Amino acid sequence: MTRKVKIAVFASGSGSNFGAIEEACRNGALHAEIVVMVTNKPDAYVVERAKKAGIQVAAFCPKDFSTKDAYEEAILGTLREVDVEWLILAGYMRLIGQHLLSAYPSRIVNIHPSLLPSFPGKDAIGQAIEQGVKITGVTVHLVDEGMDTGPILAQRAVAVIDGDVDKTAEAIHAVEHELYKETLIELFSR
Ligand code: GRF
Repeated sequence: MTRKVKIAVFASGSGSNFGAIEEACRNGALHAEIVVMVTNKPDAYVVERAKKAGIQVAAFCPKDFSTKDAYEEAILGTLREVDVEWLILAGYMRLIGQHLLSAYPSRIVNIHPSLLPSFPGKDAIGQAIEQGVKITGVTVHLVDEGMDTGPILAQRAVAVIDGDVDKTAEAIHAVEHELYKETLIELFSR
């Protein structure tokens, strides 16, 4: 049996993708271990999820640091302490800066709720519905310095339901949980 890949999940919100990844690690579908959950929002629901799962939580508030580099240097200190190999962004609402990018070249993955390059940035599902598209979807990609611009690893289409944000978001989330798991399994088996 090969050793498990050590990952950090970065999240700022409800953490349903964190939950799906944690479950896949626990049941052995994904040969990885979440060694730390990094958040910029100490009050986010994902923190409760991580604590319940017995996973170390590292919360860093950007406003406590004078620069983005200092903020990322503090995060990097924690990542190094626990030997993290890959950064998995799951609803982390901050742009990754040069400091983390150069420490983890081509080892930072993100999931985005649209078929990139369409609808990057915030409220991708709202943007898609606003534009009247009938098909949107999910993208898993490597992270570079841009906003949702790195090389695409996997995509899956999801139909817009009744032009409704909530119904479509529910369908997108279900696909995200499956696609993120499958993509990470493939990535870590290379
Ligand atoms: C997901 O839609 C993800 O694609 C986006 O942020 C959302 C996070 O949802 N980047 P959750 O916190 O994992 O439930």
